[in-house]
This record gives sequence, C-alpha cells and structure tokens, in this order.
Amino acid sequence: RLIAHLDWRYPHRMSMSQDDGEAGVATKPINIVESVPELRAQVAAWRAGGERVSLVPTMGALHRGHLDLVRGGNERADRTVVSIFVNPKQFAPHEDFGRYPRDLDGDMEKLCQAGADLVWTPNSQDMYPDGFATRIVPEGAAEGLETDFRPHFFGGVTTVCCKLFSSATPDVAMFGEKDYQQLCVIRQMVRDLNLPLEIAGIPTAREEDGLALSSRNEYLSAEERQNAPALFKTVSDLAVKALASGGSVSVSALEETARVSLLDAGFDKVDYVALRDAVSLKDWRHDQPGRVLAAAWMGKTRLIDNVAVAAGQ
Ligand code: PAF
Repeated sequence: RLIAHLDWRYPHRMSMSQDDGEAGVATKPINIVESVPELRAQVAAWRAGGERVSLVPTMGALHRGHLDLVRGGNERADRTVVSIFVNPKQFAPHEDFGRYPRDLDGDMEKLCQAGADLVWTPNSQDMYPDGFATRIVPEGAAEGLETDFRPHFFGGVTTVCCKLFSSATPDVAMFGEKDYQQLCVIRQMVRDLNLPLEIAGIPTAREEDGLALSSRNEYLSAEERQNAPALFKTVSDLAVKALASGGSVSVSALEETARVSLLDAGFDKVDYVALRDAVSLKDWRHDQPGRVLAAAWMGKTRLIDNVAVAAGQ
C-alpha cells in the first residue's frame, strides 16, 4: 500500500512511501491553482505539446467513485485536471451547503495517488464575481424527477459546469452515472450549445452491500447506513421486473410497488422512484433502453440511485 506524504503548498516536494517503510519519490507531482489565467496557461502549455486534457468536476470530499472518474480521465487524455468547488448556486437556502463535507488535504492526498495532474480550486469570487447575472435554464432532460423537488438544482449545475468548461477548455469531461439525470442534462447542454468537448459517463462505484458511494453517506447514522442499501436493491428489483414483464405490467404499478418497498425498508420519505427512457428521461417503452431512478430520505439524508434497464425484445 502506498502512502502519499504531500504538502500541496509545495507540490514538487511530494514523496511516497510504502507500509514497510520503503521510501520512493513519486513519479507524478500534482500542482494546485486557483485562478482561471493560471489554469488556462497550464492547459495551453499541455495543448501546445500535443496533449489531450480531461476535466473531472467535483465538489470535493472525494471518495472511490471520484477516483474512478480521475482514472477514466487518465485513460481518455494525457492530462487530468480536477476542479474542487462547492457550488452555492446548486443548493437551495434550506439545503446542506454550509455543512457539505470539505477536506482539501485529504482530497489532495487521494488525487495524488489516483494520478491527477492538476487541481483547480476556484474561489467564489472567481466563479461568481460581483454583478454576476447569467444563468443557464435547462429544459428537456432537466424536467421532472430531481427538478420536482430541487427546482434550483440543474440551473445551478449547468451554469457552473458551463463556467468550468469554458475556463478549463477540456477535450473531455468526466461525470458519474450515480447522478444520472445530471449526466443527461450536461450531455444535452453540451449538444445544444455546441460546446467543444465530449462528456464521458462512468459507472457508479458501490459499497460491497450495493450502496452507491456518495459524499453525503457520511451523514447516515449506523442504523440508517444498515438500511440504506435497500435503495439499490429496490431500483434493481424494479428494473428486473420491468424487463421480465415485456411491457405487460403498467409502469406506474411497478413504481408504486417499489415506493412501498422503500418505506417498508426504513426510508422515511420517497421523493420519486421512476422508470424512464434512458436518454430523454421521458416515458419508457419496453423496446427502448430504460433507467430506473429514485430519490428517498433516510432521516435527514437524501439518497439517490439509478440502474439501467436493457431494451426488451
Ligand atoms: O456532481 C457534482 O459533484 C456537482 O454537481 C458538479 C458536477 C461538480 C457541479 O457542481
């Protein structure tokens, strides 16, 4: 096991050692920038050398799922930039912006091990300077599901992602399938606005019991954590039943059964559990690829998850 000894204020001094005390120098130093001009200068230098650049947008509090995105970025490009910014515009005033977990030192250590090339930590003033007055208003894939419960959310996400893309100018940006509606909305925005980058989706990382990794899992009590994998089990059961039914059972009946199972399994409130078309997120037809998406509350923690439904014959 490698342990990174990193003082990110002096990135080129990073070293790594192993459990047994064997010391070695890391092959891939990681740097950190705050300002957009610094970021652009670094990306331009890489491009001038013929290198492709990937961007992994994050809000920090990184877990294994984020590191999968970094590895995905490394596979698709020569250089990987990770942005860490807890975006105030995607939180409503009553939501958890203030208590959202923040751990820059821990994040830097993980990114160093995952092989990121550059960490960009824009401050709020850079992202939303005084007088900032522009907002993207996504429709289509952004309608319904999350938007019914968090109407501010996708406007905030698309606005910040547009700024992250125009600042970092990546060839490819990495998003987790865990936030499946977000992935669809970002793809739609990139297509609709002719943004010159590719969006890559990476499968959800899970705990052994199926719980999708999320920075918010740390809000769960021990008992809630025990019950939380029921979300994955329920969306998976719905997906299996939908495929097996060959279109003969009504989607709303399947969704209602899933909603009741979640409440029986210890969830306190179900925002939605829905089977939709995998691309448009509108009504599903059994001969098309589908997606089961759900959001439910375990105490004060809101969890989301989703699984794919293959197209039936
Ligand atoms: O998925 C997230 O962590 C955020 O919504 C994102 C894409 C970094 C935008 O703030």
